[in-house]
Amino acid sequence: MYTEKLIKHFQEPHNVGVMEDADIVGEAGSPTCGDTTTVYLKMDGDVIKDISFQTYGCAAAIASSSILTDMVKGKTIEEALKITKNDIVDELGGMPAEKVHCSLLAEDALKAALSKVLAENK
Ligand code: FES
Ligand code: FES
Repeated sequence: MYTEKLIKHFQEPHNVGVMEDADIVGEAGSPTCGDTTTVYLKMDGDVIKDISFQTYGCAAAIASSSILTDMVKGKTIEEALKITKNDIVDELGGMPAEKVHCSLLAEDALKAALSKVLAENK
């Protein structure tokens, strides 16, 4: 039911853990299952220089956060904001339909962090 790529990102997530010296932290939670994702960013102007995450959630949620951190590292805020949960799911090679909403946690946490960056830079 899960692709090999998804299982790999779940078992050995990339960029996982708290970033003590993060510039910005963004969080998202699911009202359905109570699971959460936190995203930590280090910025260089409007470029995402470094990113890490912590997810308390299912395999799909953890794999989504992991691959999203890979996808946005080195990207500008504008580029990163264009990435949706569907892009995450595509990048993982697909996901069972009933799990797709779990990938929204990663998108939402990243967007929460990026909107804080934008608010600070105003
Ligand atoms: Fe909660 Fe997937 S079941 S994140
Ligand atoms: Fe909670 Fe998937 S069931 S996000």
